[in-house]
Amino acid sequence: MTTLLHIDASPRGDRSVSRKLSKSFVEHWLTHEPGATIISRDVGRAPPPLITEAWVAAAFTAPGDRTAEQNDELRLSDELIDELERANVIVIGAPMHNYGMSAALKSWFDKVIRIDKTFSFDLARGDFPLEPILRGKTLVVLSSRGEFGFGPGGVRESMNHLETHIFTCAHYLGVQESHLIAVDYQEFNDERYRRSVADAFAAIPVLVRQCLGIDGPVDVAAE
Ligand SMILES: Cc1cc2nc3c(=O)[nH]c(=O)nc-3n(C[C@H](O)[C@H](O)[C@H](O)COP(=O)(O)O)c2cc1C
Repeated sequence: MTTLLHIDASPRGDRSVSRKLSKSFVEHWLTHEPGATIISRDVGRAPPPLITEAWVAAAFTAPGDRTAEQNDELRLSDELIDELERANVIVIGAPMHNYGMSAALKSWFDKVIRIDKTFSFDLARGDFPLEPILRGKTLVVLSSRGEFGFGPGGVRESMNHLETHIFTCAHYLGVQESHLIAVDYQEFNDERYRRSVADAFAAIPVLVRQCLGIDGPVDVAAE
């Protein structure tokens, strides 16, 4: 039985496009697998606090040597990592903010990518000393962008630091399979936007079936 970690990162509520996409993905999943467990983590409405010097010091202190204050510092991080460890599939509703992920989502990544929890560090590995500890997870990013042309060969490809950043970091979450569906043109609110929304919502049930292994791999990239 699948456990989905459903993260929403938009500060917007009902007007958020990425929230609608991630909600649709989870709902389609439940139609196929009603017994799936859903863990909801709304970092858009309740952003994890930014890391501080005290937090970094606590994270880099061996568990047995930590003070009570340091254990308190890491409590939210422990909770977020526990949610991540339980999940097989991570679904992120990710708005594009200033050509990358929202600050709230970055703060979540900073709290879950933690030494000896989600990655190990060993200089004996040479120039690539970090290795993920977790394995076998699937990541689905449902994104919305005001402009357009962020996909391969697009006019703004080089300005896209959203999924490139998320997919790079996702390696340290134990992600071994990643997918993206994105809506473009949100700020234009024209026919191109409406087509992009329709394409994205049409791609969602196809991707759900693919992730569940009902259908083989198909090209669902709604870029
Ligand atoms: C603070 C902020 C920064 C944004 N930066 C960008 C950007 O760099 N590129 C872009 O295409 N759209 C940008 N947008 C537009 C959003 O990507 C767009 O509104 C999208 O629908 C947001 O997702 P949401 O509807 O889930 O909130 C920005 C919006 C906000 C509020």
